[in-house]
Amino acid sequence: MSARPVILLLSGSLRMGSTNEAVLRTAQVVAPSTMARAVIYDGLAELPHFNPDDDTDPLPLSVTRLRAAIERAAGILICTPEYAGTLPGSFKNLLDWTVGGTEICAKPVAWVNAAAPGRGGGAEATLRAVLGYTGADIVESACVKIPVDRGTVDEDGLISDPEVCRQLAEVLRLLVASGERASVADWAGLLAGGHVASCPASWGRVLAAAAEHDREGPREAGFEVFVAQREVVPAS
Ligand SMILES: Cc1cc2nc3c(=O)[nH]c(=O)nc-3n(C[C@H](O)[C@H](O)[C@H](O)COP(=O)(O)O)c2cc1C
Repeated sequence: MSARPVILLLSGSLRMGSTNEAVLRTAQVVAPSTMARAVIYDGLAELPHFNPDDDTDPLPLSVTRLRAAIERAAGILICTPEYAGTLPGSFKNLLDWTVGGTEICAKPVAWVNAAAPGRGGGAEATLRAVLGYTGADIVESACVKIPVDRGTVDEDGLISDPEVCRQLAEVLRLLVASGERASVADWAGLLAGGHVASCPASWGRVLAAAAEHDREGPREAGFEVFVAQREVVPAS
């Protein structure tokens, strides 16, 4: 098995021939040059409509699969279109399913806005707001605008423009580097807090987020409740 960090690629488009998917497919191709392994999540269409009543064991299989993919990833790269000034409903639905799990908490996340110059700002703003509620670690330096014209997607569904490839490689590098820093912070947080040295990786991330919360106060309304609801801090 590869020891390379896995970056999970999430497309917000279900459209055949999607430009956003082409960006992610291209990121997958350039990933080996960055030490990362990029994996495309392909379950968006299978996710049920989010219902808090269903966010309990046993979870729908597609949700378990989504959360496991997030858990395994060192970082997440999103590329989504904007619909009616915000995220596509199906992609917002995916993000809603991440709120009830701890997997995305403190996970390095970035997005590529592939819309034409000056477009897509509504989707970006919604992403920022929703990811804030999930506790994801938005890697600002890796959130970039790479306008992609449909005509530049080749018949293999890839973008061969070398500048696009270069920019995507840089985004992946930044995500990987951020994931490495986060791992160190996880363990530093555990040790500093005197917590047990062996616990599920997701606990470590939540603990690190909670430690940051203690140091810096709530990053936004709701975060305090978010951390408290998890009740994951084991007795030291
Ligand atoms: C229903 C609908 C609503 C859209 N609303 C917006 C919008 O508000 N802002 C925008 O910049 N583009 C909007 N678009 C354009 C899409 O974002 C654009 O076509 C995008 O490239 C689609 O991504 P895809 O190729 O990955 O499917 C809309 C497209 C559709 C189908």
